[in-house]
Amino acid sequence: MDTKERFEQKGQGHVFQYWESLDEEEKRVLQEQADEIDLDELEVLVKQLVLSKKGSSTIDFSSLDPAPYEPLPGDILGDEKWQKAKIAGEAALCSGRVAAFTVAGGQGTRLGYDGPKGTYPISPVKNKTLFQLFAEKIRAARCRYDCEIPWYLMTSHVNHEATVSFFRENNHFGLGEDSVRFFRQGRMPAVDFEGKILMESKRSIAMSPDGHGGALRALERNGILDEMEAKGIDLMSYFQVDNPHVQVIDPYFLGFHVLSGSSMSSKMLPKAYEKEKLGHFCVLGDRLEIVEYSDMPDELTAQRDEKGQLRFIAGSVAIHIVSVDFIRKLTGKNSSIALPFHKALKKIACLDSNGEKVVPSEPNGVKFELFVFDALPFAGKPMIIETTRLGDFSPVKNAEGVDSAVTCRADQQRLFAQWLTDVGVSVEKDSEGVPLRKIEVSPLFGYDLETFRESWEKRGLDTDFSQDTYIE
Ligand code: UTP
Repeated sequence: MDTKERFEQKGQGHVFQYWESLDEEEKRVLQEQADEIDLDELEVLVKQLVLSKKGSSTIDFSSLDPAPYEPLPGDILGDEKWQKAKIAGEAALCSGRVAAFTVAGGQGTRLGYDGPKGTYPISPVKNKTLFQLFAEKIRAARCRYDCEIPWYLMTSHVNHEATVSFFRENNHFGLGEDSVRFFRQGRMPAVDFEGKILMESKRSIAMSPDGHGGALRALERNGILDEMEAKGIDLMSYFQVDNPHVQVIDPYFLGFHVLSGSSMSSKMLPKAYEKEKLGHFCVLGDRLEIVEYSDMPDELTAQRDEKGQLRFIAGSVAIHIVSVDFIRKLTGKNSSIALPFHKALKKIACLDSNGEKVVPSEPNGVKFELFVFDALPFAGKPMIIETTRLGDFSPVKNAEGVDSAVTCRADQQRLFAQWLTDVGVSVEKDSEGVPLRKIEVSPLFGYDLETFRESWEKRGLDTDFSQDTYIE
């Protein structure tokens, strides 16, 4: 049966409605898109997530408990357990077992920035882009541990070429072209509320990236797992492209992962307030789950323990260490595990029934996405450690308001001021704790308190901070 017939049989024949009017190249592209779609899978998703009135969550909330985590000690340098973890993490780094991995395939619609999100300028003084900041953190860690630390970046059809060109134009930020590897994630068709595939134009289907969870199958399909194994890499430091605060390479986190025998580990942040929009780390029976803030019933979100602290306090910041063999297990041919798709209601520019392009002002369709944290219930001995907000998390999600460039730049400066205070320098701050003059620290000088302190002590800088300051 040819592709057109298969689509007709599944009630999606309209995809080829304008076939006769297309030229050969347009036909080739449309055919290629259509061939990417698993119509059986789509039929099930439409039935379960679009036509059914039930939500996608099937969690038994009455059996849900908060997940245990390793709390941050008051004095990390004096804490035996954390120092043991650090030694183990550093050993893994020095023996070349670790790669950095960024999911950068998202569309960044909330930010509304024209271009791959990683090319967004975000540092407070030098306006370095997100990609440059991560690259410099990786370069600094390479020097420190005298190892390669290759960097894998997942892009999508939306931004692949632009991302690769950006790195080329910037000489891969000194990392070396061979050790920065890009690969594309998969994509899924968007459908309307009746489950009909939406057309972006007469010659193309409205396809969107298959979610950050698409990383797992993309790593397998693109041969990245094989490449990693050939290089002796068995640990991936996973982070999102929109969070310049992330400790890209954190020996403590790596060490806890290795020592606990975990196959997927996570960082948690105590939620700042009940309704903070972070997923909750929970246990359901013997499995670790992240329950999205939007799925969590209000009465659980508000529950407090005897000390008055939020019971479900552990928020996810989408930072993980993932073992390569775990991804192999999840995605291998014989795997019986299929991560669930989630639906997202979106405004999707598409053709109407008259073949006219419409740009909706209200959600008009559904996109299907996989989430990386849905792998956690299948992980062996999953480990969670606490982190600090300034030390690891201030994402750029929105054009304004919370989690915007403004809040992120202020947070970067709060962090740098904290490091300076720690080495005995007093920095004048406003009532919000933001330095009065802008400060930026190059990751090549220091990318966390310990590396910053070391450089500061070695170099003994004499800076007066009466004007904007860049420490490099
Ligand atoms: P978000 O959930 O914030 O989505 O992605 P987004 O696409 O970047 O932004 P909005 O929702 O359209 O405003 C969190 C992280 O997951 C990556 C993003 O690039 C970001 O690093 N991601 C998301 C992917 O790599 N692929 C996807 O399909 C979705």
